Amino acid sequence: MASPPPRIWVSQPLFDDVVDQLAAHCEVDAVREVTVHPPEAVAAALREADGALVTLNERIGPAELAQAPKLRAVANVGVGYNNLDIAALDAAGVIATNTPDVLTETTADLGFALVMAAARRITESERWLREGQWRQWSFSTMLGADVHGSTLGILGMGRIGQAIARRGHHGFGMKVLYHNRSRLPAGVEQGVGAEYVDLHTLLAQSDHLVLVLPYSQDNHHIIDAAALARMKPTASLVNIARGGLVDELALADALASGRLAAAGLDVYEGEPEVRPELLALRNVVLTPHIGSASLATRRAMVQLAVDNLLAALDLGPDAGRPAT
Ligand code: DGY
Repeated sequence: MASPPPRIWVSQPLFDDVVDQLAAHCEVDAVREVTVHPPEAVAAALREADGALVTLNERIGPAELAQAPKLRAVANVGVGYNNLDIAALDAAGVIATNTPDVLTETTADLGFALVMAAARRITESERWLREGQWRQWSFSTMLGADVHGSTLGILGMGRIGQAIARRGHHGFGMKVLYHNRSRLPAGVEQGVGAEYVDLHTLLAQSDHLVLVLPYSQDNHHIIDAAALARMKPTASLVNIARGGLVDELALADALASGRLAAAGLDVYEGEPEVRPELLALRNVVLTPHIGSASLATRRAMVQLAVDNLLAALDLGPDAGRPAT
C-alpha cells in the first residue's frame, strides 16, 4: 500500500499560488487568515505534521517538538530564525531552513530608508505638517543631520550589512566603519568600501549606526545605556535586525534627553507591542517590521521556503514547480 503523502502545516497566509506548489506532493493544511497562534495552537498544528512552513511569529522549541513525533522539516520564511530552537530541532532530527540572499537588497533598502528618515526627520516633519503647524517657510524648520559624506557605522557585516555599506560608500560618499564577529577578507572590505573597527570605536565615531546582526542571548541588549552613552549626541541609531539587541528603555531615555539625536526602528523587543516610551517620542521613526516587505521579495522568500521544504522532505528542490 502506498504511504500517505506528507502533511504540511502552513502557519500564515503566504502567496497561495506559490504555496499551492506543495499540494502536488503533500497534503497541505494552510491557514488562510493572518492568525496569532498561541504556543498550544502551534503544538496542536504540528501534532500530525511531517513538515511546516512558518514565519517569525511561530516559536518552535522542545515543548512543541515533544508533541510532533512525525515532524521532519521546518521551513522558516525569513532569514532570522530566533523563533526556532535550533538545538532542540537538531536533537529531534528535524531539518530547519531559512531564506537568506533573496531579501538582502530589499532589507538593505529599508535600512537605508530609516537612516535617511531619522537623519532628515522625515516622518516627524510629515506629522508636523499634517497637524497644521506649518505657518510659513522658515530657515530653521526641522534641521537634521547630513547623510552624504558622514560616517556610517554597521554592526554585523553579513550580506545585508554589506549591501548597506555599498549604498553608503558608493551612493552617498560615506565613510563606512563596521564591527563584526570576524573581519571580512580585505578584498570584500574594499569592494564595499568599509573599514573594520572595534565596537568602542564604532559607537564613538558613527554618525548613523545600523544594527544588522543576528540576535542571540549573547548579544541581548548589546546596545544598552553604556553603549548609547558612547555615541555622539548628534548620531542616529537604526535597528532592522531584532528588537532584543537594544535596551529600548535606555534608548527612549537617550532620545528624550537629547543624548542621542534620532532613531529608526523596524523591530521591537515585544513586537507587535511598541513601548509607550518610544511611541511618545518624535525623534524616532517606527515601522512595523517591514524590512523584507516588497512584493517581489516576499514572493521570492515564500518560493525559497517551499523549495527548501520540498528538498528537506526529499521531494526534490524543483518537484513542486509547475512545468514552464
Ligand atoms: C527576516 O527575514 O528575518 C525578517 O526579519 C523578516 O522579514
